[in-house]
Amino acid sequence: MTAFSGTVTQAVYIVTIALVIVGIMRLRTPSTARSGNLLAALGMALTLGVTLVFIPLENWLVMTAMLVLGAMVGTFAARTVRMTAMPQMVALFNGMGGGAAALVALGESLHILLQGAVPPLTVSIPGVFTVLIGAVSFSGSMIAFSKLQELIGGRPITFGGQKLLHASLFVLLLLAAVLVVSGGPLGRLMPLIVLAAGAAALGALIVLPVGGADMPVVISLLNSLTGLAAAATGFVLGNDVLIVSGSLVGASGTILTQLMSRAMNRPISNVLFGAFSSQKDSAVDSAVGEVRATNVEEVATLLAYASRVVVVPGYGLAVARAQQQVRDLMVALEARGVDVRFGIHPVAGRMPGHMNVLLAEADVPYDRLYEMDAINPEFSRTDVVLVVGANDVTNPAARNNPGSPIYGMPILEVDRAKVVVVLKRSMAPGFAGIDNPLFLLDQTRMLFGDAKTSLTELLAALRDVG
Ligand code: TAP
Repeated sequence: MTAFSGTVTQAVYIVTIALVIVGIMRLRTPSTARSGNLLAALGMALTLGVTLVFIPLENWLVMTAMLVLGAMVGTFAARTVRMTAMPQMVALFNGMGGGAAALVALGESLHILLQGAVPPLTVSIPGVFTVLIGAVSFSGSMIAFSKLQELIGGRPITFGGQKLLHASLFVLLLLAAVLVVSGGPLGRLMPLIVLAAGAAALGALIVLPVGGADMPVVISLLNSLTGLAAAATGFVLGNDVLIVSGSLVGASGTILTQLMSRAMNRPISNVLFGAFSSQKDSAVDSAVGEVRATNVEEVATLLAYASRVVVVPGYGLAVARAQQQVRDLMVALEARGVDVRFGIHPVAGRMPGHMNVLLAEADVPYDRLYEMDAINPEFSRTDVVLVVGANDVTNPAARNNPGSPIYGMPILEVDRAKVVVVLKRSMAPGFAGIDNPLFLLDQTRMLFGDAKTSLTELLAALRDVG
């Protein structure tokens, strides 16, 4: 590389780093998220471009073909994926990132060792780290993808002696890592292969016992590992863009994992070791009252004469794909002078921001969306709360039943409203597998049926109300 191309490359790297940082900052609110995403993508495109132009590539034809193929597959997948399938797509892409980082470090290390040389510690230590973390992230993400895509069962997969196997494998990996860093050129080869294969086995073993519904939290954790692996690859290759962007992914993935765990009131160890589902459901014992089924005519009248309505969307809204109908209802009610707001719980749905994305897709204005802390004080002044396919995030047992598995989880306090109408198909529990005493309260009405059908009928009934 000439002095000129070196300077241009460094300049482009700095621009990319700035674009990625600004891009991530803009992801904080829905209104700027789209441009943030584009800015970060532009940064990556610039770096790829400068790499192809200035760095002498031996197989540029193969590289370009792979680049075009990858871009085509990625674009097609991103444009056709359904919102409810987004978690598995993130798992797949994340696994590819981890696997790529591991392969680059493995290739670089093998290249040096097979020449009979020994890499300095500043290269071999991050190299070992990348192979280890990248391979764990790759295989763990593939298992997460398979569970979410229902290629394998979503239930926790456990077998006798599993913990012992995990511990033994971990010790073996540590031993292999020490040998890779300290052995002679050829003595390092076998431990390096053992390290890569063993780490891949460990990643799969860690994710197998986790239930399918917990996968988004695990994917976020694996995502942060991939970031760290990419940052370590940056040290192996001496590439600043990889170091900075990998660190950003590692840090933001860690923060996201923490936020999700906190919003579910479950430490990450609980998610990973599956204790949640085996807890006894004592919320059921304390639930008293009777179920009051209602119909669309009654709900339409309640809504038509309300001053303030809060809609609480949940996972069922995504399953029913009823975001457009919920938006149409909002428009119809606002035309009648009703104040309509949406109360968004941080873990409503199955992935971070699930509800925000769905509602944005249906053009619900951002200013109608209220976060949990902003909407909770409003419920006591609300005439009707419409709970659309949400369950756990409204469960009052989290507030008043210390024996409940979700006790302590912050919830949307919909039970403080004058009337609560719940749209769901049956009395079946939600993700946490526990009953919801909200459904038995005096002020609660159950509108049974698929959310899309109920909302469509509700809209028609609303037009009939004078
Ligand atoms: P859930 O508690 O899972 O409840 C969803 C409800 O939707 C179910 O009770 C179901 O009842 C109903 N439903 C399903 N299909 C429907 C349809 N077609 N029409 C109408 N209703 C339908 O959902 P939530 O309140 O959104 O809570 C989210 C849960 O997921 C929390 O426990 C959370 O901890 C967990 N979780 C969230 C995340 C993130 S980041 N969002 C990640 C991991 C886990 P019926 O079957 O009776 O219809």
